Amino acid sequence: MKSRKLGSSGLEISALGFGCMGLSLPNAPTKEENIKLLRSAYENGITFFDTAQAYGDNEALVGEALQPFREEVIIATKFGFKEGKQMLGLDSNPENIKATLEASLKKLKTDYIDLFYQHRTDPNIPIEEVAGTIKELMQQGKVKHFGLSEANAETIRKAHAIVPVTALQSEYSMFYREPENEIISTLEALEIGFVPFSPLGKGFLTGTINASTEFDKTDSRSFSPRFNKENREANQVLVDLVVSLAEDKNATPAQIALSWLLAQKPFIVPIPGTSKLHRLLENMGSVSISLSDAELSKIHAALATMKIVGERYPAQLQQKIGK
Ligand SMILES: NC(=O)c1ccc[n+]([C@@H]2O[C@H](COP(=O)([O-])OP(=O)(O)OC[C@H]3O[C@@H](n4cnc5c(N)ncnc54)[C@H](OP(=O)(O)O)[C@@H]3O)[C@@H](O)[C@H]2O)c1
Repeated sequence: MKSRKLGSSGLEISALGFGCMGLSLPNAPTKEENIKLLRSAYENGITFFDTAQAYGDNEALVGEALQPFREEVIIATKFGFKEGKQMLGLDSNPENIKATLEASLKKLKTDYIDLFYQHRTDPNIPIEEVAGTIKELMQQGKVKHFGLSEANAETIRKAHAIVPVTALQSEYSMFYREPENEIISTLEALEIGFVPFSPLGKGFLTGTINASTEFDKTDSRSFSPRFNKENREANQVLVDLVVSLAEDKNATPAQIALSWLLAQKPFIVPIPGTSKLHRLLENMGSVSISLSDAELSKIHAALATMKIVGERYPAQLQQKIGK
């Protein structure tokens, strides 16, 4: 597996990480199967694992699975919700950050967090105060790197002025290209790494979802506006593009979606999630696919003709988490 560095931080990780959230969703595989999968990910070359306090029992699962090779992996987790629950709203009070850290260390069975992200910007706590708190935790050796998630350019700049930000984690894929407006150039200028979440568009870009797909009511896509039937139908044109590119490159749609992201900037490290080993290996294949400048221009031109419809989150959640 090739490696990449997150900006100028020197933090070197596998070019593709593993988004672990899905392993703790309803209908996820058993704990034993999950542990086996996470260990196989490491054995196959993945060294970057993404979790969060807000992902239920996910930190405990990741901690147990990765304990035998803790020193060899980079674990990223996130703070910033009341009691770690999105629906209770944001809380980046220094006391909550410190309490979350202690809880995360315990669940992850470790005495340091490699990369500690603020999950969402908290409008009630100045980002300088958040960054100052992280700086203190870094001085204590409990946190190695600071990250932000879904923060805007101004917040990134303010935080970075207090303590270096190693990575921004925000949604980015052919399905959601908002970071191209201002974020990616800001990260490039400040030499901060970019970790795109939902890089497969929550599965949409893999060609396995269409207008007739039925989602279980516990699946967040069942209440995500962009996954309603009408929007899936309207956005199918994007899937058709990815499928046809995959045919041309003798690759799979998921591999094209990921190789496109990797081709955007050398400081980008996507974190696709899957509960299945064969898909993990398939996704890892994207690192060996290279898209030529001509192919990238062709994709760029095709994407420019498409208008992706549907909000990412239901209004009630959007209100709670600010974005
Ligand atoms: N910072 C944030 O606010 C935030 C928000 C969302 C996510 N994240 C992080 O980003 C990670 C990934 O995001 P995500 O899970 O939302 O979306 P994703 O990685 O874009 O897509 C995951 C979905 O795609 C399916 N899938 C994966 N590989 C596939 C393949 N090769 N063929 C067909 N289907 C495939 C998975 O199903 P199977 O399990 O059935 O394979 C799953 O339903 C999360 O685990 C989490 O760590 C962060």
